[in-house]
Amino acid sequence: MNLDEIIRERRSIRTYLPKRVSEELIYKILDYGHSAPSAGNIQPWEFIVIRDEGKKRRIVDTTFIGNNEISGKPQEWMFSAPVFIVVCGNRDKVKKRYGETSLESLIYLDTSACVENMLLGAVYLGLASCYVSGFKKEELSEVLHLPEYYEPIAILPIGYTGEVCFKRPKIDIQNIIHFETFSKKKISE
Ligand SMILES: Cc1cc2nc3c(=O)[nH]c(=O)nc-3n(C[C@H](O)[C@H](O)[C@H](O)COP(=O)(O)O)c2cc1C
Repeated sequence: MNLDEIIRERRSIRTYLPKRVSEELIYKILDYGHSAPSAGNIQPWEFIVIRDEGKKRRIVDTTFIGNNEISGKPQEWMFSAPVFIVVCGNRDKVKKRYGETSLESLIYLDTSACVENMLLGAVYLGLASCYVSGFKKEELSEVLHLPEYYEPIAILPIGYTGEVCFKRPKIDIQNIIHFETFSKKKISE
């Protein structure tokens, strides 16, 4: 697969086959993440790899569907993935370099670049994943024994899939491109 195909083929996948994913492939995905750009090259990400079924259960229990932490039911679909990778941000690293104000945006900007590399890398390796951020941060931090200055940013369930997933509708690109200044004119006008 070339990059064009990888970008176009990537989907958020929510059903996985019960097939083991090798350590080698997981390591490659982590390395793709670690190759991402970051402000000042501070690389504030760290990864936790989870295969243990009991631990996966506890992680899924911290998640919720939709945007209501209280009433949203756990994202049970995740459980079918044989591996979870949790991407964490080191808030202390960002704060020391860029201060408290920048921290709140940079921690997400850096780790999201890292996550996207991992999502695309998974597709390249014949695997599937999904960016999951619907979880209770404090509960997940507790399950993972995160030190207080680390923030869980994303859970990436990783696995093989048999799902045929159509491309989800995207806004017509012509409606979101502007030249020189922001205008409502479409690319073709
Ligand atoms: C920051 C972020 C958080 C997301 N959180 C979740 C989530 O908690 N659960 C989930 O099923 N999908 C989640 N998604 C996946 C989106 O629903 C998905 O990217 C979107 O519907 C577009 O589909 P596609 O990725 O197949 O193009 C998240 C995506 C992003 C970028």
